[in-house]
Amino acid sequence: MIDLRSDTVTKPTPEMMEAMQRAPVGDDVFSEDPSINELEEKVASIFGKEAALFCASGTMTNQIAIKVNTSPQDEVICDHNAHIYRYEGGGMMSNSLVSVRLLNGDRGRITAEQVLENISPDDDHAAKTSLVSVENTMNKGGGACYDLKEVKKIKQVCDEHDLRFHLDGARLFNALTAKNEDPKAWGSIFDTISVCFSKGLGAPVGSAVLGTKADIKQAKRVRKAFGGGWRQAGYLAAACIYALDNHVDRLHEDHAKALVLANALKDKSFIDDILSIETNIVIASCDGISPQDLVAKMGEKGILCFPFSKTEFRMVTHLEITDEKLDAAVDIINNLEI
Ligand SMILES: Cc1ncc(COP(=O)(O)O)c(C=O)c1O
Repeated sequence: MIDLRSDTVTKPTPEMMEAMQRAPVGDDVFSEDPSINELEEKVASIFGKEAALFCASGTMTNQIAIKVNTSPQDEVICDHNAHIYRYEGGGMMSNSLVSVRLLNGDRGRITAEQVLENISPDDDHAAKTSLVSVENTMNKGGGACYDLKEVKKIKQVCDEHDLRFHLDGARLFNALTAKNEDPKAWGSIFDTISVCFSKGLGAPVGSAVLGTKADIKQAKRVRKAFGGGWRQAGYLAAACIYALDNHVDRLHEDHAKALVLANALKDKSFIDDILSIETNIVIASCDGISPQDLVAKMGEKGILCFPFSKTEFRMVTHLEITDEKLDAAVDIINNLEI
């Protein structure tokens, strides 16, 4: 099977496994795991942030960041397709007791103007806007990347209105690769950033939330309350260090492969449209067949992919999609008749 459902399906490479086995470990609740401490320092310094906290998942790092950045009765501004809203089990409402103002961005990318228009008035009737959150790359937007200039404008609005600014960077390294951008340019804009090592970077588990020392101290307290304090998790941190050292520079290969898949799909009679490829995600809408039925047909032929809405399906390239697997996938698509 050629598994194009998500970049989360990868298993550690033998070299990554070796790094995990060699990892020095300790009790991370006491901050005594050398591998976790090394990872946290490394990822914080990549983005020029003061500190980082290693956690089990991107959902956990997003939820921790939201809790650190808000108080109950506050409101969070984000796109209506943002992962923090659509795919985190309603967590921000239950964990942080906040409401949400949903915007309609271009492929999930909201603008400074939209943010400005949607800040609540200073009025007891309204939930107090306290946080803006953006996602880069935007999963539901087909891996679309933000324009750094627009993000800086949003930051200016945040500064002028005393709002915190969070980045869900589950696939931030894909965006940085695609746009050839400096991680520190992004690090300097946001109060908190969540980055994942278990998507395109190919680690089996793990995400980090980055911020100031004070915010990360608070984040550690919140993680504890979420039941996320862990012990000898340095074996996992070692995989993430290995991923940062070895799997970032290759991300452009995943992006090129996504383009090959999109080109194979584009003239098929069962495809209506494909969002232009920016990174490793292909989102296509179907013509004359439901995404569920198309995904089932692909499955019969050996491609696993994912229905993504009432009209769309998603394919994601990753570390395990070799040239051979890509060629095989293209052959299957070329020969697929509906
Ligand atoms: C944009 C985005 N943010 C956050 C997450 C959550 O990551 P996790 O699955 O590690 O909780 C995902 C998961 O795919 C994602 O796509």
